[in-house]
Amino acid sequence: MAFYTKLGQLPPKRHIQFRRPDGALYSEEVFGTEGFVGPTSTLYHIHPPTQVTGWKPIYHSKPEYVEREVMRMRHIRSSPMPPKGDPITGRVVLFGNEDVEMSVCVPSEPMNYWFKSGTGDECIFVHHGSGTVHTTFGTLKFRAKDYIIIPKGIIYQMIFDPTAQGEPNPRFLLIESVNGSHILPPPRYLSKQTSQFLEHAPYCERDLRIPQLPLTFDKQGQYEVRIKTRGMVHSYMYTYHPLDVVGWDGCYYPYIFNIDDFSPIVGKHHLPPPTHQTFEARNFVICSFCPRLLDFHPLAIVLPYNHSNLDSDEVLYYVEGNYKARRGIESASLTLHPQGIPHGPHPGTVEASIGATKSDELAVMCDTFRPLFPTKAALELDDQSYPLSWENSPDSKLDGKDSTGKKSGGSNVNTWS
Ligand SMILES: [Fe+2]
Repeated sequence: MAFYTKLGQLPPKRHIQFRRPDGALYSEEVFGTEGFVGPTSTLYHIHPPTQVTGWKPIYHSKPEYVEREVMRMRHIRSSPMPPKGDPITGRVVLFGNEDVEMSVCVPSEPMNYWFKSGTGDECIFVHHGSGTVHTTFGTLKFRAKDYIIIPKGIIYQMIFDPTAQGEPNPRFLLIESVNGSHILPPPRYLSKQTSQFLEHAPYCERDLRIPQLPLTFDKQGQYEVRIKTRGMVHSYMYTYHPLDVVGWDGCYYPYIFNIDDFSPIVGKHHLPPPTHQTFEARNFVICSFCPRLLDFHPLAIVLPYNHSNLDSDEVLYYVEGNYKARRGIESASLTLHPQGIPHGPHPGTVEASIGATKSDELAVMCDTFRPLFPTKAALELDDQSYPLSWENSPDSKLDGKDSTGKKSGGSNVNTWS
């Protein structure tokens, strides 16, 4: 993150003696990025963080992509995915490339170990469920619609609250940087002088939930930390609780941003997706399409124009809203609109949307600058008819009216593009 903060106990200066109650020294760790010139935090451990054993590779984590040469629209229905695994092993990669991997996870088991990614930053969008993430930097309570940003190298355990009867299974979308870059707010939202969020940004520091106490778990025993790196998950053993930090300060830590705290920017005419941008990393961006008032020119067309995103693949994850504007889409659907072929509103939806004043859509979008590839798991959930869904159909001949001849859009439409 951009701004400096701290938690727990700290000595008054860096790199000086800082002693435990028993007189021994705490172990200082500089948690640095980009060769000590990127965001950094300094942590104080009860035990030397170097005292680990194991390094046993336990399973491959590198996704296998299929149909790498095929360019077509895709619609993946992830709602039928059965619950499986824990919040790490239950992740199913659906799309990815050299820069980013996108997974859906519907966990059915708790984690009985801790985890860190040595590959890159993780952006976990919680669709359903609530719970707690215990991290090296403190505790984060999460709820539905939270983006949980866990930067590379941070040890954590994600615990979902029990699900009440009738509530959906916990479910999250994971967008993971695999090119070594960090997932951060767009630089244009931040002051160059102070890194403060600027007035035009759709969110600011007050919207970010940073780690809280409890921070320190002073326990001895056998603790497993699984580390993902080099396409493999390794098991390391600690003889002390891995979350043994008594204090830290700096600009590198996990945090949460709830998508309902994104303040959409609206315009007289249709505004493009960068208006909805929330985070970015090298070669991909993450955007939030949130409920909002629509374009207010008296003749405005509130749905997006057809567009050729010549340099980016677009993946949308549909969270909630009125899905009628896009045929066949349901909650937890993912669509991929690849570079190379234009896309836009479905037949009939533009006329139907005229006069609409608001949208109740909620969707997360990830745009990548290099082509995305599906996995075998994605193809198993693939709606093969989706690429043909822009064909003229009896619906479109209604010219935006429903079967009774009335306009079907009403005052509330979705504007997914
Ligand atoms: Fe689009």
